[in-house]
Amino acid sequence: MRRIVIANQKGGVAKTTSAVNLATGLGMVGQRTLLIDVDPQANATFAVLGEEPESNSTYDLIIRDVPLAQTIRHTKRPNLDIVPSNIDLAGAEIELISKVGGQTRLRTKVNEALAGMPYDFIIIDAPPSLGFLTINALAASEEVLIPVPSSVFALNGIQRLEETIMLVRRELACPNLRVNGVICTMYENTNMAKDVRAEVNKHFGALVFQTTIPKTVKFEESHSRILSIFEYAPEHAAAEAYRQLVQEVLHRG
Ligand SMILES: Nc1ncnc2c1ncn2[C@@H]1O[C@H](COP(=O)(O)OP(=O)(O)OP(=O)(O)O)[C@@H](O)[C@H]1O
Ligand SMILES: [Mg+2]
Repeated sequence: MRRIVIANQKGGVAKTTSAVNLATGLGMVGQRTLLIDVDPQANATFAVLGEEPESNSTYDLIIRDVPLAQTIRHTKRPNLDIVPSNIDLAGAEIELISKVGGQTRLRTKVNEALAGMPYDFIIIDAPPSLGFLTINALAASEEVLIPVPSSVFALNGIQRLEETIMLVRRELACPNLRVNGVICTMYENTNMAKDVRAEVNKHFGALVFQTTIPKTVKFEESHSRILSIFEYAPEHAAAEAYRQLVQEVLHRG
């Protein structure tokens, strides 16, 4: 089983869009996938389920010690289950600080359930911060995928993220945790976007996926209709891009 977190403390860089469409796309090619929403904004939960369900959430999993199996919801999408989030999770940042093992709660809960879990992939959607929730998301993972938008300031803060990943690896005993891909998102065919892409290539080298995700309103439209990009605009370049990304991720296993 591969455990992948989509992380970048910068807001609005397409973490959730990438987590949701990657998880959905993996499910569509037969990979049994669990999406865990670790963001109190619950955008991934809304994008997949269309609501914040009454059932157990990520908050119950990591704070109330509810077993993972009791927090999982099936979705209408093939081979895709989700652990939903809700606003309760906003309080977890503070509560985790005072808990023993507060940085590794999510990993502990996932590991406890591991033997009985039928999944090929766990995809974690992290919030836009480097707080305790993101630390938990990183510590529960082995691979980090970093979405980077094709806009000015795109690489600001990347060093902090890389330092945090290194710290988690060392201090929280995650020897396998590594950046395993950089996704160029919101790409436009402008000189500035090309410059940003060149800078990203220079910094990350072969870690940058060949696939670039185009900037298009189709993503917002798909979220508002509670559809993946594959269902909403299957013929559009945006859907083709995430289909290619799924293949690249499979090949980097
Ligand atoms: N390739 C794209 N082109 C245009 N808009 C996009 C693209 N990808 C995502 N968006 C839109 O940009 C906004 C931010 O995307 P998203 O929510 O995925 O980012 P995020 O990094 O998860 O944000 P946050 O940091 O708040 O969690 C959303 O409205 C989304 O629909
Ligand atoms: Mg998000």
